[in-house]
Amino acid sequence: MKILFIGDVVGSPGRDMVREYLPRLKEKYRPNMTIINGENAASGKGITEKIYKQFLELGAQVITMGNHTWDKKEIFEFIDEAKYMIRPANFPENNPGKGIVYININGTEVAVINLQGRTFLSAIDDPFQKADLLIEEAKKRTNLIFVDFHGEATSEKQAMGWYLDGRVSAVVGTHTHTQTADERILPSGTAYISDVGMTGPYDGILGVDREAVLKRFLTSLPVRFEITKTGRTQLNGIVVTIDNNSGKATKIERIIINDDHPFFG
Ligand SMILES: [Fe+2]
Repeated sequence: MKILFIGDVVGSPGRDMVREYLPRLKEKYRPNMTIINGENAASGKGITEKIYKQFLELGAQVITMGNHTWDKKEIFEFIDEAKYMIRPANFPENNPGKGIVYININGTEVAVINLQGRTFLSAIDDPFQKADLLIEEAKKRTNLIFVDFHGEATSEKQAMGWYLDGRVSAVVGTHTHTQTADERILPSGTAYISDVGMTGPYDGILGVDREAVLKRFLTSLPVRFEITKTGRTQLNGIVVTIDNNSGKATKIERIIINDDHPFFG
């Protein structure tokens, strides 16, 4: 099983990159399944039903979310019907939506889990305990388990990688918008990367208009953050190859597409 994961898609520049490059990435890597982190897809904050459906039409099987899940009001109207969207499973029990989904790929089932860290993010339920519960549930159906761990701190993400090593196929970090070069297969067979990186503006600061971010740092005054709408763009992702029987990862590759790392098909 080959899974392509595209890191945090930010606003329309990110969506345009997915539209342009997803077909080319599929041709190059031939993944059986594609997952997109879409929590920044609508102007950097949240997702709309229209964008969710666009991602599915472009060929994604699962959309994962994060700390911006509830930013667009309309999410409350469609999340319970959005079969292929998951939000962090360790949000409070009474929240709408779900944190795990099972996808059948030609008779092989893959469980995809979304979790969120608590270091420098909201104080939600324990992602480690939630992971234990969901993995126990998923193992009754499949050994192929993919985890998107949405977190700020590399320490917490590494801790999750080691905690789940040998129990899931992959733990990939999202949220920081900066790809890390620490991809590896942990000793018991879990593919790991601290952060996949983002998809969207290339010359902003984490996708946000530079001027505004600089003004915040230089003056500490409140500023409105806008997504950089024009200019160069990037796509960051990873491809994980998993043994269908054992569920162990055999390979993890980083994908970087930008003007400094042009795409070669
Ligand atoms: Fe995030």
